[in-house]
Amino acid sequence: MDRDSGAGDVAAGLDLQGLDPGRIPVHVGLIMDGNGRWARARNLPRTAGHAAGEAVLFECVEGAVAVGLRWLSAYTFSTENWSRDPDEVAFLMWFNEDILLRRLVSLDRMGVRLHFAGDLDDPRIPDRNRAHMQNAAARTRHNGRLELVLAFNYGGRAEVTAAVRSLAADAASGRLDPGSITERHIEARLSVPGMPDPDVIVRTSGEMRISNFLLWGSAYAELVFTSTLWPDFGAQGLVDAIVEYQRRGRRFGGVLPAPE
Ligand code: IPE
Ligand code: IPE
Ligand code: MG
Repeated sequence: MDRDSGAGDVAAGLDLQGLDPGRIPVHVGLIMDGNGRWARARNLPRTAGHAAGEAVLFECVEGAVAVGLRWLSAYTFSTENWSRDPDEVAFLMWFNEDILLRRLVSLDRMGVRLHFAGDLDDPRIPDRNRAHMQNAAARTRHNGRLELVLAFNYGGRAEVTAAVRSLAADAASGRLDPGSITERHIEARLSVPGMPDPDVIVRTSGEMRISNFLLWGSAYAELVFTSTLWPDFGAQGLVDAIVEYQRRGRRFGGVLPAPE
């Protein structure tokens, strides 16, 4: 790993035994859960859990680059997270902006392209935060080593609803024949057009639910659940989840080929 990539230290510490480098998934989705419980166990405020979790996300980005993953998506703030205590919401809004300020140069140097999935037009998002997201996406748009999707103010139902609303507008104005609408039309109007379906979705903290993450694309995703709290996950957690994914027999409604 060249020094400039910024991925050297994390890559050097990874145990890659058991990983089949020929069958790396294209897209891993991360539901980063358990920051609050991690903090509570240490008598720290919940926000300290989010800070520890942020460092782990960037270790995972480095790990993803090291194993050759092409797409990594991470759930950073859900449309339902607005229901939290206003202080925690305010922290998360500020923190998102702060992360982009601190990490953008090293992400750019690593060849990471940033995308944002979610409703960024929501007036509850501070303007400065929105501007940082737009700037980060624009600045990294020519990078191609890893596509990093930050799902911010993201909800799977809201995303599909927005796609349907835009198709309905085109149909109502006569630009689109409703009878010709296919799944591809919906996919093209999701938050990040061209984002492949996640092959595997990982959720930490022992909760076994999707919580409105990537509802459309997760139709055939392999689900990996771990009781590890997000701040304890680390880049090795990502590698272990990929190893678990490689043990699965994906069928997509068909049948597995007979053993030799
Ligand atoms: C996930 O950790 C981070 C966000 C939802 C922003 P939580 O904050 O949900 O942590 P727990 O689930 O309360 O432990
Ligand atoms: C999912 O975690 C959202 C993010 C990780 C950003 P939550 O903690 O919000 O999910 P629930 O409430 O346990 O389902
Ligand atoms: Mg949670």
